[in-house]
Amino acid sequence: MKRYIIAFALLLVGTLCARAQESSVIVSKYGSEPLKIGSVEEWEQVHRPVIMNFFEQEVYGLTPLRQVGITYEVVEEAQGALGGKAIRRQVAMHIDGMETPVYILMYIPANAKGPVPAFLGMNFKGNHQINPDEAIIPSPNAPVTKGEPLRGAASSRWPVEYVVESGYAVVTLNRDNVDPDFDDGFKNGPHPLFYTQGQTAPKANEWGTIGAWAWSLSRVMDYLQTDKDIDSNKVAVLGHSRLGKTALWAGAQDQRFAIVISNDSGCGGAALSNREVGESVEVINRSFPHWFCDNYNKYRNNESALFIDQQGLIALMAPRPVYVASATLDQWADPVGEYLSALYASPVYELYGLKGLVGPQPAPDSPVRSGHVGYHLRTGKHDINIYDWQQYVAFANMHFFGK
Ligand code: GCU
Repeated sequence: MKRYIIAFALLLVGTLCARAQESSVIVSKYGSEPLKIGSVEEWEQVHRPVIMNFFEQEVYGLTPLRQVGITYEVVEEAQGALGGKAIRRQVAMHIDGMETPVYILMYIPANAKGPVPAFLGMNFKGNHQINPDEAIIPSPNAPVTKGEPLRGAASSRWPVEYVVESGYAVVTLNRDNVDPDFDDGFKNGPHPLFYTQGQTAPKANEWGTIGAWAWSLSRVMDYLQTDKDIDSNKVAVLGHSRLGKTALWAGAQDQRFAIVISNDSGCGGAALSNREVGESVEVINRSFPHWFCDNYNKYRNNESALFIDQQGLIALMAPRPVYVASATLDQWADPVGEYLSALYASPVYELYGLKGLVGPQPAPDSPVRSGHVGYHLRTGKHDINIYDWQQYVAFANMHFFGK
């Protein structure tokens, strides 16, 4: 077995320090450059753990290792949903210590011959907003108008019929049902469940809200592994914008997600931070102080100090297929920076003999999805719509079924 010697600038813990004493691989700041790594072995043994540690300690914060008790209860199920196209299943995730269950909504293709692949993603405004289906249990904490939930208001973002007809289940849960998206000093959501005695807020290197959302996606995956209708080896995790940042962080930590998809995730997601185009680390931490860990504040107006930029996050998916999408009018998310991250992560895929991205950013509406790193730049605004989903279904078809 090869021995490694690591010299690097970053604080590392435990086994990494042990390896550091006996190494021949030099790890120094990666910055915002393409990831040129010597071999798969070096990537897996040295670079990946170092990069993961950086994102845990300095960006999203550590997810607690400790488990809490969770039970899953199917609270509603119907054949013949969506005009006969789907089975609808709603599962309450009861998390010990949390008053309100988290509701998981599933649409599963009707008449499937066996377990089906799935797209799993969080929604912004409630499960009941993804489709007008009256039977959807309104997500707790979601907005209402005149006492009525806004059923179907986000259906353009969730083309459920199309996805189900394509042979995939749609699985979703609401972000505010897991951890409300405002800064309350981490009193609500799952954070307090993990505090040590006397602790009242996460430490500087402990998870924020994106970390909690990502954790919940893994807890849904725990359930999917037990659902006989789902092929849990074929679950693509996806998300739009802040929930795209979340999908990436979930995919980085949990290798059970077979494909990871970022839609317009921007700063703190797919986009390189050190370009300082669109949203900056300063602005995102000022506007959303609860999303990341406190250590991330070190990089406000100081992006060049980042040990590694967001290309490192994309590379953490390797060798699993990853897809990054941008939109032409979404300059706030820096489409060029999103593309460059995926491009700069591509050499890691190439180590595995897999095809990454090459060359300049593709023209609008010219998706590149023949390899393991997919990308498209959709014409239009910051959003997720049928065009984006069509690319994701095609990408998943290729990787899951070779078609
Ligand atoms: C804001 C925020 C972005 C985020 C977006 C969203 O624009 O600045 O970082 O991605 O909201 O979630 O829609």
